[in-house]
Amino acid sequence: MDLNGKKILLGITGGIAAYKSCELLRLLQKKGAQVRVAMTEEATRFVAPLTFASLSKCPVYLKDGAVEARPFQHIDFPRWADLYIVVPCTANAIGKFAYGLADDPVSLCFMSCTCPRLLAPAMNVAMYNSPAVKRNLETLRSFENTYVLESPAGELACGEVGSGRLMEPADIVSFIEGGSLPLAPAACHPRDFSCHPRAGGDLLAASATPSSGGHPRNAPAAPLASDSLPEQDPSLPGHGRRVLITAGRTEEAIDPVRYISNRSSGKTAVALASVFLANGYSVEVVAGPMEAQFPGGATVHRVRSACEMHQAVMERLPQVQALVHCAAVADYRPKEAAAEKIKDSRNQLVLELVPNPNILRDSVAAKKPDQVVVGFALETDHFAEHAQEKLKKSGADALLLNAPVAKDSGFGFDCVNYALVTPAADGSEAAVPEMQLGSKVELAETVVGFICGRLGAPQKAK
Ligand SMILES: Cc1cc2nc3c(=O)[nH]c(=O)nc-3n(C[C@H](O)[C@H](O)[C@H](O)COP(=O)(O)O)c2cc1C
Repeated sequence: MDLNGKKILLGITGGIAAYKSCELLRLLQKKGAQVRVAMTEEATRFVAPLTFASLSKCPVYLKDGAVEARPFQHIDFPRWADLYIVVPCTANAIGKFAYGLADDPVSLCFMSCTCPRLLAPAMNVAMYNSPAVKRNLETLRSFENTYVLESPAGELACGEVGSGRLMEPADIVSFIEGGSLPLAPAACHPRDFSCHPRAGGDLLAASATPSSGGHPRNAPAAPLASDSLPEQDPSLPGHGRRVLITAGRTEEAIDPVRYISNRSSGKTAVALASVFLANGYSVEVVAGPMEAQFPGGATVHRVRSACEMHQAVMERLPQVQALVHCAAVADYRPKEAAAEKIKDSRNQLVLELVPNPNILRDSVAAKKPDQVVVGFALETDHFAEHAQEKLKKSGADALLLNAPVAKDSGFGFDCVNYALVTPAADGSEAAVPEMQLGSKVELAETVVGFICGRLGAPQKAK
């Protein structure tokens, strides 16, 4: 299906993945589609309507906004559209659509549109698997002209791993282009699409929903990170290979009850472990304190301080093909940890700090030529200069530059600004690519892709 000239109404509901709709809108525009946007009130808490108004160059249909200027937006917008897509689609919106409630712009458009409707659910795995959501999705699949995309497994906004992720914007565009939706030429409104849609595209499941009159209505999960353990599959790039990941933060003791640390949640390391496992690698982790939980299948060694992490990494390095330094290791530690709790004397207290061992540099110095070591650099300023310097000084094969510069990204969040920096082949200053805002799973896919490329195809067993 050629999207050029198609009119697409994009409904956005209040899920954490709402920010991905910006990318989707841009991708659709790049294909030549015109896009208009309707948002629920909850969605506007995640992304400002101004963003979508600017990108779509058209006022956004909001509950209270623009009502005076365009009193019939709830009918005009759906009637204008060749296709209505709701991305992301919350559990709440799914319930409303299924039961015929129409008390916000997105559900009003759903009810009043006669064009095909495509929903991309996104939510926590427990919500996605709840009986109510399952039943409501089934109901929606039985509606004429209504298509529901699967929500792939992967790392979720809440830090858990499982189904419920929003299908990637590029995959949603591929699905629409795949010709599965009965899109007619733009001019023929209103239409009756009770006739059979065309044969499914690549992303369509072969099985038909019985109640849908034989229409193939579901797209299968995209091949993203999962918590399954496919390492037995010899066709996977990590088959027979072991990777070591450092994770979390370190705690440097001041006395028996106090320490110096940082805000690392460990979510990036969890995403890395999930993506490595999904690619068939054996995964070992040396983890400092952290909140995020590792998927089953990863072997986790717990440590607390930078010195403990240093020792654990150096011991395990000879047994792995790749090492990823994701942990936020304290650069300094108190010279001496007091044996007893330091009492409050009301006097000034001076802590003497000494440098911790540099785990990245020591592991690069000890690595064999066929091992790959990737460092991480979290920076808050002068990103390119700091990344270039760290990459040069460490001698790592690559450096993952990341920065908590966007609101709600970085420590504890699911999104992060990042760029993978590799040394220039001619020994000159490394070029630092522009940082991109993406999920930690996407960051992990970038790192794993780099390592798979460096290690090449696995040796066949003789
Ligand atoms: C931080 C945060 C993230 C949320 N993410 C989701 C989500 O991804 N999917 C979902 O179904 N609900 C999510 N919710 C709950 C919805 O925002 C809530 O059900 C809301 O009423 C949905 O409104 P809407 O469907 O009218 O947009 C989230 C809530 C919060 C506070």
